[in-house]
Amino acid sequence: MTENELIRTENLVRIFKSGGSEVHALDGVSLCIRQGGLTILNGKSGSGKTTLINQLSALDQPTSGSVWFEGQELSALPERERDKIRRTRMGIVFQSVALISTMTALENVEFGLRVAGVPAAGRKERALECLEYVGLGKRAGHLPQEMSGGEQQRVAIARAIAHRPAVIFADEPTAQLDSGMGLQVVSVFKKLIAEQGATVIMTTHDPDLMQVADSVFTLRDGRLLDPVEGGETP
Ligand SMILES: Nc1ncnc2c1ncn2[C@@H]1O[C@H](COP(=O)(O)OP(=O)(O)OP(=O)(O)O)[C@@H](O)[C@H]1O
Ligand SMILES: [Mg+2]
Repeated sequence: MTENELIRTENLVRIFKSGGSEVHALDGVSLCIRQGGLTILNGKSGSGKTTLINQLSALDQPTSGSVWFEGQELSALPERERDKIRRTRMGIVFQSVALISTMTALENVEFGLRVAGVPAAGRKERALECLEYVGLGKRAGHLPQEMSGGEQQRVAIARAIAHRPAVIFADEPTAQLDSGMGLQVVSVFKKLIAEQGATVIMTTHDPDLMQVADSVFTLRDGRLLDPVEGGETP
């Protein structure tokens, strides 16, 4: 295991079968991601970014190869164990903001804490603290439809970080936002990394965001191109 290693994949393959044909969405991906910092997964549409992030976050199982998280082989664990690791050790932010529309910002974040198994006492205070952290203390009582797209995505980030996960995954979190709101979202990630030593793994198409990354992995047709500065293949 590399020092400070958080995630490792070994010869990861994911083949989708649809109709009579096969898509090799991941075709032998081996990578290592250390704790701390912003890692970006990039590549053209269809190159395998979402497929890879779904593997790293244990939302999907590989066809072959393995994923290691905090020294445990995720792909070898029973589904219940994987679900537990995802709920407690990981925070996930999706492209389309998946807030519950009938709940206020505060209730959405509190609900995330409940799902992560955090005891009821203190959930409200922690939820409010996280909303304040993303600059939305004043929006705590707002429903999702009473907030801008960037604000909603920041509520989703507050929800993803509230249970203090070891890693935050974000699949194109800025894709549906204009560039100003996209920057707000990225600056929240940068703040979390600088102030709390967070680890953020994000997919994006946006070349401007590549420059703020600590490491970048580029996919093409399900394979990794040569890693650049900070990225590493074991
Ligand atoms: N459930 C599925 N069934 C069949 N093929 C799939 C499935 N999911 C993804 N694929 C295929 O796998 C390949 C990689 O898809 P993936 O969604 O990982 O790409 P991506 O890099 O995230 O693209 P985008 O930038 O458009 O989000 C694509 O060719 C896609 O069509
Ligand atoms: Mg995608």
